[in-house]
Amino acid sequence: MITGTTDLYAIIGDPIAHVRTPMAFNDDFACRKIDAVCVAVRILRDDLPRGWAGLKSIVNLKGFIVTAPHKQEAAALCDALVEDGAYTRVVNAVRREPDGRFVGTLLDGRGFVSGLKSHDHQVEGRSFYIAGAGGAGTALAYALAASGAAAITIHNRTRSKAQNIVAGVAKAFPACTVALGTADASGHDVAVNATSLGLKPDDGHAFDLDSVDKTSLVAEVVMKPEMTPLLTAARALGYAVHLGTHMLNGQLELMMEFLGVRGAQRL
Ligand SMILES: NC(=O)c1ccc[n+]([C@@H]2O[C@H](COP(=O)([O-])OP(=O)(O)OC[C@H]3O[C@@H](n4cnc5c(N)ncnc54)[C@H](OP(=O)(O)O)[C@@H]3O)[C@@H](O)[C@H]2O)c1
Repeated sequence: MITGTTDLYAIIGDPIAHVRTPMAFNDDFACRKIDAVCVAVRILRDDLPRGWAGLKSIVNLKGFIVTAPHKQEAAALCDALVEDGAYTRVVNAVRREPDGRFVGTLLDGRGFVSGLKSHDHQVEGRSFYIAGAGGAGTALAYALAASGAAAITIHNRTRSKAQNIVAGVAKAFPACTVALGTADASGHDVAVNATSLGLKPDDGHAFDLDSVDKTSLVAEVVMKPEMTPLLTAARALGYAVHLGTHMLNGQLELMMEFLGVRGAQRL
């Protein structure tokens, strides 16, 4: 039951009707008998500074998830950024500190790492090929490097964006070998599509599937459809595949932890 002591959580975005976070959070609150509620809050694309001031003024709002189109502007509005939020200056989770400051981070990449681990795929010491250098590709690169990946190769249609990530990750994680790649994904333990290709049935592949080593894992960030054209083709060729939905599932737990819902160790 929602009472006067109920903690508030939210997800902000525009549009907002499609989001699944309130259902996932509220199911969890109910299962664990946590006195909290999560609501979807639509803040219009050009109105975030005004909306942010409103969020700040709601003292029992403990934290919120940020989705498109606000992830970058929210990072600029945060009082502090930690972990992947600090590296990328993009956030998708913001919590209120006891002193009222809003602290943000980006959990997309950590969700991918968590999804891999929960399906018994190691990250530490492994080599990763990432196609894509947008929001998802950037998040994956930093999180994989932070999680002990030995080597990361990044390939993107717009090469300068991949170059920026290579430079940033190499500086932040000198122990990880980071390189600019081509469509050739050979020589890596995991090849992941982090582009938006795959949403449509006739989408091509962001890298040359035939180049992937036969023992490698082929992974996705695209969630709909679950079996993208890339994963369908990879499975037909005998590759082990890893779904984009595992990245989101891996992230829900991390969101709860970062927001302090479970009292778990904070980032
Ligand atoms: N599973 C999850 O939890 C999760 C989380 C976040 C995102 N995602 C999914 O990840 C996908 C990418 O999201 P994003 O935020 O990274 O998008 P984004 O920032 O817009 O980046 C899009 C990426 O796709 C590339 N791309 C687009 N069209 C292409 C084409 N025709 N050929 C080659 N490359 C193309 C872009 O290359 P250029 O740089 O050259 O334009 C860029 O690297 C989306 O499907 C999103 O739903 C999933």
